[in-house]
Amino acid sequence: MENPAINDHQLHPLISQRWSPRAFDSKLVEKDKLAQLFEAARWSSSCFNDQPWAFIVATKDDTVNYQKLLDCLVPANVIWAQVAPVLGLVIAQKNFKHNGKPNAWAEYDAGQATATLVLQATALNLVVHQMGGFDPAKAIATFNIPETAKPVAAIAIGYAGETSNLPTELQDREIAPRARYPLSSFVFTSEWGISAPFV
Ligand SMILES: Cc1cc2nc3c(=O)[nH]c(=O)nc-3n(C[C@H](O)[C@H](O)[C@H](O)COP(=O)(O)O)c2cc1C
Repeated sequence: MENPAINDHQLHPLISQRWSPRAFDSKLVEKDKLAQLFEAARWSSSCFNDQPWAFIVATKDDTVNYQKLLDCLVPANVIWAQVAPVLGLVIAQKNFKHNGKPNAWAEYDAGQATATLVLQATALNLVVHQMGGFDPAKAIATFNIPETAKPVAAIAIGYAGETSNLPTELQDREIAPRARYPLSSFVFTSEWGISAPFV
């Protein structure tokens, strides 16, 4: 299924087609496509070009590590994410590599790298569903994540599946129109709350 943005201004199809379905096909993702996703993340921009992101990823055929990732998700996400052929954690490395000082932009950059990965996925006809609903403490313990790194999100990657395969209560959410606040509510000029004239 597709659920394109109902955009007010013209968008590149990569942006309008991207969305976060919960219905995944169980088909495995080709290894070269997976590599392309992380190559896209690699070429994201970052403060001081520090590249403070890391990913812990497992494909479903790696049953042990896949299960470990699945066990980090909150139950509401496990319901649908367990069908996805690839699960992962997005991690921000807290300190700059060049001087060891705290990097205030680490999470921003990790999110930006993930957004870049998601667009590459869209170009490959894949979908990515990002999740805040996971247990960071469990992720840290399970995967030996050092104190200098922070798991910030989980991701499910795969091909979009049939909505009818979801539990009934999730089907309605899946087909609901996607909504966004208007540009005038967040693009300001002169001072906070004053909409920019071009929106
Ligand atoms: C950081 C982040 C955390 C999210 N956490 C969850 C989550 O735990 N469970 C879930 O089903 N969706 C989650 N989502 C997906 C959002 O609900 C979704 O992106 C939002 O509703 C907009 O829909 P769209 O991505 O299809 O445009 C998350 C998305 C982001 C970016």
